[in-house]
Amino acid sequence: MAHYGVIADLHGNLEALQAALAFLDRRGVERVLCLGDVVGYNADPNACVSLLRQRGIATIAGNHDRIAVGALGLERCSSIAAHALRRTRRALDAASRAWLRDLPAHQAVEQRLLLTHGSVDDVQRYLWTYDDLRDNHRLLEREHPGTTICFFGHTHRAALYRSVGGQVVELAALGEVMLPAAPNAVYFINPGALDAARKVVGERWAELALFDSARGVLTFCRLRYDHAASERKALRGGYRLGPLARGSRWLSALPRRALAGTARRLRAVWRDR
Ligand SMILES: [Fe+2]
Ligand SMILES: [Fe+2]
Repeated sequence: MAHYGVIADLHGNLEALQAALAFLDRRGVERVLCLGDVVGYNADPNACVSLLRQRGIATIAGNHDRIAVGALGLERCSSIAAHALRRTRRALDAASRAWLRDLPAHQAVEQRLLLTHGSVDDVQRYLWTYDDLRDNHRLLEREHPGTTICFFGHTHRAALYRSVGGQVVELAALGEVMLPAAPNAVYFINPGALDAARKVVGERWAELALFDSARGVLTFCRLRYDHAASERKALRGGYRLGPLARGSRWLSALPRRALAGTARRLRAVWRDR
């Protein structure tokens, strides 16, 4: 039993990773778990790998990590991801490449917690729908029996689901949540993405979670970090596609308040649709 910090999808964003680790240190977590996609999209893949290694953080492989070392191809990537991953492949040093290559696909913690990046049987498959979650519950029963909590990443969306007897329910991924144990129930938990560069404009938060396994209490957290610095480095380092880079510069020149208002209006339209 321990007090964990759970992070995912940092994608070479050193500013977000440093902010997250400083926060987890202040909260006194005993162990940090990382759900993969250490690299891709941002300009500091080697520094992120090195920080995770120095801190001895338990890390599993994400699809970007596999693609960055050539263990998977670029066929299932968007053009933005493929562009950033080609750049990452050129930037990785030998030590980072070796560390990434050795990352496991899954890791069990305390026997009942399992870390996976995407689906249990396919690192590139997203857990978006209730059918995806039901399939993964069956896979866990077959391949990782005894798992009651499955941490996953890849969707870049903080989420919490409870699956029992073929029924999946989504619970609010907000603040502190008690996870009472129940026979045959599995909780699927996504802490959200540390790298906020691909989120809606105006919502540049690093997302992560705390989990107290002794009390069964999960806490979703959001942190400010210096996203402008990481974005500048990504643009300068050529990690952004041309039109996107130009769009980002144009957006960053707009007044902050106007952007926040637009984001609010878009969210309202989305809610009311
Ligand atoms: Fe990711
Ligand atoms: Fe991913």
